[in-house]
Formats: sequence, structure tokens, C-alpha cells
Amino acid sequence: MAQSQLNVGLIGLGTVGSQVAERMLTWGPQLARRAGVELCLRRVLVRNLTKRRPIDVAPDLLTVDPDALLEDAAIDVLVEVAGGDEPIRGYLERAIRAGKHVITANKVVMAKHGPELLALAAEKNVDVYFEAAVGGGIPLISTFRTDLQANRIERVSAVINGTTNYVLGRMAAAGLSLAEAVGEAQAAGYAEADPTDDVGGFDAAYKLAILGSIAYEIKVRPHEIFREGIEAVEPVDFRYARELGYAIKLIAHTQRHPGRVEARVHPAMVPLDHPLARVEGAENAVFVEGDLVGQVLLVGQGAGGRPTASAVVGDLIDLARSIRRGVQSRPSFSFDDRIGVIPMGEVVTRAYYRIRVDDRAGVLAAIGQVFAEEGVSISSFIQKDAWSQDQTVELVVTTHPSVEASLQRARSRMADLEPVHAVSSFLRVF
Ligand SMILES: NC(=O)c1ccc[n+]([C@@H]2O[C@H](COP(=O)([O-])OP(=O)(O)OC[C@H]3O[C@@H](n4cnc5c(N)ncnc54)[C@H](OP(=O)(O)O)[C@@H]3O)[C@@H](O)[C@H]2O)c1
Repeated sequence: MAQSQLNVGLIGLGTVGSQVAERMLTWGPQLARRAGVELCLRRVLVRNLTKRRPIDVAPDLLTVDPDALLEDAAIDVLVEVAGGDEPIRGYLERAIRAGKHVITANKVVMAKHGPELLALAAEKNVDVYFEAAVGGGIPLISTFRTDLQANRIERVSAVINGTTNYVLGRMAAAGLSLAEAVGEAQAAGYAEADPTDDVGGFDAAYKLAILGSIAYEIKVRPHEIFREGIEAVEPVDFRYARELGYAIKLIAHTQRHPGRVEARVHPAMVPLDHPLARVEGAENAVFVEGDLVGQVLLVGQGAGGRPTASAVVGDLIDLARSIRRGVQSRPSFSFDDRIGVIPMGEVVTRAYYRIRVDDRAGVLAAIGQVFAEEGVSISSFIQKDAWSQDQTVELVVTTHPSVEASLQRARSRMADLEPVHAVSSFLRVF
């Protein structure tokens, strides 16, 4: 007999969890109509029972004992919105082993352990949904798994970290230093007290690992992704970028090549007419190219309690519907282990160099010779006025596409030239 009620155990009642609980508690009839079953919040796991919560949850629903959810046979679905690796990964594994379905917003767990959890879920005949793990409220995973499943995905390029996009936007618009812009983002609630995960590109790399794995059906591990944060970008780079017709964005990019894929996260100069150059503030955007569909752009709020709860509760309705029908509405995952990630040194990209040199004859020839010997062809070149105090000038060079290893060799060889004071900035051009 078909179930009339689906019991949910919720882990986490913070920014996202409180919005998930609120929607479940205040929108019951609408959710039941869409899901075809009543969605019943049966237990909520937190760390601190006495903490003040932004929503009213009956005190007897709350527990600090994970077994109260994991050992409760009546709980059909575990919704995890707590975050972090262990002990949460272990809870998800236990839930799957106990035959519970899982919905998670946890990018760290899904990026690091997703393929193993999905394989275990397939073995146990349960589902793992993780729409909220990437891009907050933007429908990405479901788009890949259902609407775009007739395609071979060729590339995915994204502005997928709202914090760095806000910070870079403030540096560009107001000429702020990185530290000033991060401080502003923290005051506005867009950055954590410790912003390393965002500023260092770790968060974007986790999300790209998930997107790449789903897009190509291969295992893209976070440690295989080339990652560079925005720490080295300086306010002056935004001025030169604008002059050259670019914005500076933290880009997460993956692209299919014969037998391999490239996957990288780094700040990049993005042409001003590219849709990713126009993504503002804490917004996220994902640009997908499929062989049948062509180009698709998905834009929206990549974070925040309400947008993320939209993805979590959407997954819950979808899952409830398929449980009620006794079918899996989405194809199960299978990953091709033969396809790996290309080492960054072999990736072909364009580059921007900002170089401070002595203002004297012969410098340009020496720099030109380094590029020529490394087989790197120059696309544009700007010389800025002499600095008043020390008689140096700034050279801004952009290149045609070249192998990353050659671009890096050119960078270090130039830094060793006697009239070169510093290669002050190196950015890839998208
Ligand atoms: N916030 C966003 O905009 C956003 C967007 C997309 C994805 N996500 C993901 O959603 C998840 C939750 O994020 P959040 O911003 O809602 O975090 P949060 O505000 O810090 O809330 C975390 C909640 O989980 C509980 N918790 C944490 N570790 C726990 C443990 N070991 N055992 C039991 N309870 C535990 C905390 O309990 P206490 O309240 O008792 O401390 C808290 O209620 C993370 O995976 C995050 O990456 C968040």
C-alpha cells in the first residue's frame, strides 16, 4: 500500500535548516499536494539544545543524539544541512546503509565522497539528492540529470562563489584593496569570519568537482582541480583590465578534451561582453555548453538560507513523489573511471602579465626574447608612464593561447631578468 506520510529527519537548524523547517512546518498542505504524501518533520539534530532559533520548532523535536535519527526506523529520509566532513559523512553513510534516502546541501562531503556515497546508495536502492550543494537555489544538478541528459556536455564555466564575486566587484567599483573589500563583505554578511575557503578558491573547487563529475559522469576529485584564489589580485589590475575590455572574476572552468577533461579555478580576465562578466554581487552564474542544446546560462542566488532551502525542499518533493510511485524518477549515476583531469601545465590558455621594469633601452627586447623562446605569442602590449620616484615603468602584456607551462616559464624567466623589478601580476585571460 502506498505511504501516506514521509518521515523526515533533519540534521542542522542553522541558516539553511531553519528555512527548510519553516517551509515544512508552515506550508504542509501545498507540499503534500505537490509530493502526493504528507511530509512530516519527525526529528531535528543540532549541537546545542538551548540556542535561540529564528523559528519555532517544538522542543521535543530537537535532539543532540545522532542515533535518535539514524536508528529510528520510521525515518524515511535524512535531510542534512549541517556541513563539514566528519562526523557528517559518517552519518550519511549510516543512513544509506539503514535504507534511508538522503538529501544534502553539503558540498564538502559530496565533492570528496560523493561517488562512494552514490555507489552505496545504488547498492542499497535508495536515493541521494544534492541540488543545494552547488549554486544554492539555482537548479543545476537537476538540469544536468534531467533536462540536459540528451547532451554530451562540452564545457561548464561558472562564477560559483558569491563572496569572491562581491569582493572583486567592490575592488573594481570602489578601488578597495582585497582586505578592505573582504571586511566590507564580512560586515554585509557575505563573507565568513574566516574567509579562506572562499578567497582561496576552495569552495569553488568543491563545487566544480561536483559539477564536473555530474556533467561528464566521471570522478573529478577536488585535489585534482587546479586552484588559485584571488589573494594576488590588486586594485590596479582592474584598471588595466577595463582598459583592455575585461572584468576580473573568479572562474571555475571545466572542458572536455579527447579522453580527458580540464578543470580549474582561478581569477581570470573575462571579456566584458561575456555573460559571466556581468554577474554582479553575490549572484552566481553557470554557463553550460552541450552538443545538442548549445549554450545555456543559469543565473541566480547561489547562497542564502531561503534560496538554498528552495533547492533542499524541491529535492524532498521530487524524492517523495518518486517514492510514492515506487520508481526512481532520475537516472542513477555511473562514473567512467578511465577519464582523468589534465595537469594544469598542459592546459592551453591566454595570459595577462603586469611587469615593473627599469625605464631604459633594451628592456622590451629582452622581454620579447623570453616570450619568443618560450613560443608564446604576444596579443597586446601597453607601457604605462614612468613612476616618478624610481624611474620604473609598468608593462602590461596579454598573450595569445599558449600552454600553461610555457606561460609560467616565461613568467619566472622574466622575473630573473636584470632590468625587471617584479612580475607583479599574472592572470589568465578567459
Ligand atoms: N548558508 C548558505 O547560504 C548555504 C548555501 C548552500 C549550501 N549551504 C550548505 O548548507 C549546509 C548548512 O549551512 P548553514 O549556513 O545553514 O550552516 P549553519 O548556519 O552553521 O548551521 C549549521 C547547523 O548544523 C548544526 N550542526 C553542525 N554540525 C553538527 C553536528 N556535528 N551535529 C549536529 N548538528 C550539527 C548546527 O547546530 P547548532 O545550531 O546547534 O550549532 C546548526 O544548526 C552546509 O553544508 C553549507 O555548505 C549553505
